[in-house]
Amino acid sequence: MKSPQNPKTVLNGSHITINKRRLLRDLNAISRIGIGNHGSVTRLVFSIKELRSRQFLIHQMRQIGLQIHIDRIGNIFGKLNSANPKAPAVLAGSHLDTVVDGGKFDGTMGVIAALEAVRTLKEKKVSLQSPVEVVCFVGEESSRFGFSTLGSSLVAGEVHGGDFANATDAHGTKLEDILAGLGIYRSNLRSLRRDPTTVKGYLELHIEQGPILEAIKKPIGVVTAIAAPTRFKAVIIGQADHSGTTPMEMRKDALVAAAELIVAVEKIVRQYSRMDKGRVVGTVGAIKIEPGVINAVPGKTELSVDVRSITAAAKNRAVRLIEAKIHEIARRRKTQIDILPIRKEAPVPLDKRLVHLIKECCEARNISYEIMPSGAGHDAMQMAKITPAGMLFIPSRRGISHSPAEWSDPEDICLGAQLLLDAIVRVANEKI
Ligand code: GLV
Ligand code: MN
Ligand code: MN
Repeated sequence: MKSPQNPKTVLNGSHITINKRRLLRDLNAISRIGIGNHGSVTRLVFSIKELRSRQFLIHQMRQIGLQIHIDRIGNIFGKLNSANPKAPAVLAGSHLDTVVDGGKFDGTMGVIAALEAVRTLKEKKVSLQSPVEVVCFVGEESSRFGFSTLGSSLVAGEVHGGDFANATDAHGTKLEDILAGLGIYRSNLRSLRRDPTTVKGYLELHIEQGPILEAIKKPIGVVTAIAAPTRFKAVIIGQADHSGTTPMEMRKDALVAAAELIVAVEKIVRQYSRMDKGRVVGTVGAIKIEPGVINAVPGKTELSVDVRSITAAAKNRAVRLIEAKIHEIARRRKTQIDILPIRKEAPVPLDKRLVHLIKECCEARNISYEIMPSGAGHDAMQMAKITPAGMLFIPSRRGISHSPAEWSDPEDICLGAQLLLDAIVRVANEKI
């Protein structure tokens, strides 16, 4: 541990204990916003439910007395000041939006845990060298527009004119139109960027969303890197036609072409799915069919393709093979297939010093941990571009996420929040 800059400063969080009941109470309360069948939660970005969850957070921040800043897109920053209010702040948080019929924990747990950590620090009058900000990023999930980590990408200055061109929801609403309503245009995207000199580090606690921690019976994952996606839409244009009169050899069936493509994505990606080959994963998660009736040959389909890996080279190889296959299917089936790019991102390594610091926080409490990469995307991958970023995982039951069956043990949640507090205190008080 580095030497203190001020002898009275609390150097680590090991004797500061979060309030578990309060943490679980808030997590339960916010989960009622957008609750659906079988305990599912749906708070799509910019929906009324998502806005209400943000209001809930603002209310809690006000009660604590945090200094609240909300940027133009709606990212919320609740600041706990320190002895040096001008010092760069430690940011901690995640997101409150969810997928359709998602769970209660993805993103939300990280925001509420950061809230509880800061509330504890305030209540116990802990003296810190740097301010701490609880952060809620807007639109981490790509379920509505196909565009992920929206708010944190803007904060990191990682969005450029035209990036939203193909971002449209299932009802045809364009993300660009919603943003224009908030005063965000191609010309001023950089205005949401946070000046990196005002940030000391970013910490995010999240559920693992995979099966590893549960399988090895370890309560904490310390994340080293985040797999990043390449995403595009494939629009297949065939010929809509009568299903009774059109001979098989005269058809240009856009759905059969889509079916070939879906199977091809799986087959190609499987060549690179082993850990030593780059652990590439690929998913066609959404499909639109026109006209989509029983008595017409499908004339148009639109597929979403999402390919991810921890290794850029392996991901790029798989994407190139998928693109080649798309051209081959188009030629052979006499259809037109347009590839509309959504996003191409490089896998992101997290800060090595923070990996080490989080490991030490676990060791200080005798907690066993696993050093691991993240297959899911997180706001941390954007924040890592402007500040040292670190992440902690807690186990997900049966590895399930993006589903009402998503579950994490309350004990693990409380432990994760406690370690988040410990890490916040150390980042705030030490030279990073
Ligand atoms: C975020 O949940 C993702 O899609 O990785
Ligand atoms: Mn998610
Ligand atoms: Mn998430």
